[in-house]
Amino acid sequence: MRPTGAALGADVEGVDLANLTDAEFAVIHQAWLDHMVLRLRNQHIDDAAHVALGRRFGELDFNPGTRLTGKVYVEGFPEIVKISNIVENGKPVGELGAGEADWHSDMCFIETPPSASLLRSLEIPPEGGDTSWMNMEAAYAGLPEELKRAVVGRSIKHDAVYVSSGRQRPGTVAPASGDIRDIAGAVHPIVRTHPLTGRKSLYLGKRHNAYVMGMEVAESERLLDALWAHALGGDFTWTQHWRVGDMMIWDNRCTMHQRGAFDSGARRLLHRVVVKGQKPA
Ligand SMILES: [Fe+2]
Repeated sequence: MRPTGAALGADVEGVDLANLTDAEFAVIHQAWLDHMVLRLRNQHIDDAAHVALGRRFGELDFNPGTRLTGKVYVEGFPEIVKISNIVENGKPVGELGAGEADWHSDMCFIETPPSASLLRSLEIPPEGGDTSWMNMEAAYAGLPEELKRAVVGRSIKHDAVYVSSGRQRPGTVAPASGDIRDIAGAVHPIVRTHPLTGRKSLYLGKRHNAYVMGMEVAESERLLDALWAHALGGDFTWTQHWRVGDMMIWDNRCTMHQRGAFDSGARRLLHRVVVKGQKPA
């Protein structure tokens, strides 16, 4: 185990995910709770091993695309979503494309967002496309008193209809009013307590169309802007420069992540599974 030295993250070395013992998994699970993000390099495992590893963390969930449309990316493995910009025969093989992916926690807009995400790289562009993670326990701990008081007992509604680029998710209904307060989405506390560690973190989900329940829209925007400025302005992050064969395992309950842009002509392909979480509390 080698911590990154940054606000979160550690490298796990000397294990082969294709032949993982229970004792090794116990170490990985504890390291995941301790460091929030784990990187395991040179893990050239197949989809079956990827799904099996995910299941050791708990029951797997389906990604939003599969939930809403039934679209399966990998034959025989409906839990796997392809994250890719690659287009074959005129059709994208995966989700997300080549643009920048804004800071978010995976699937914050559902009632029970995932506990763990497990992402493995199959094709990586020569440059760009780095992924950064943010330690939201440190972000919460570092909140100025005024903001800490402002979020007590408050909840955010997380837009389930639109992705951050503004595109509407297939199978969702846009609000007729156009009012941010009328967009469908899950409501979660701004400060959540980790069910296993008991530690508190800031749960912002994503910025786009977020709304603090019970506030005027302008007031909600001001509070969210202040919270995001605090989170983005602090020293709470660590950045992963991908290589093929990397397996990243992170805790969605206490982190956010973001991906930088890369050349749309370069190929990038990753497979992801997510583990079902509980309702944030
Ligand atoms: Fe994500």
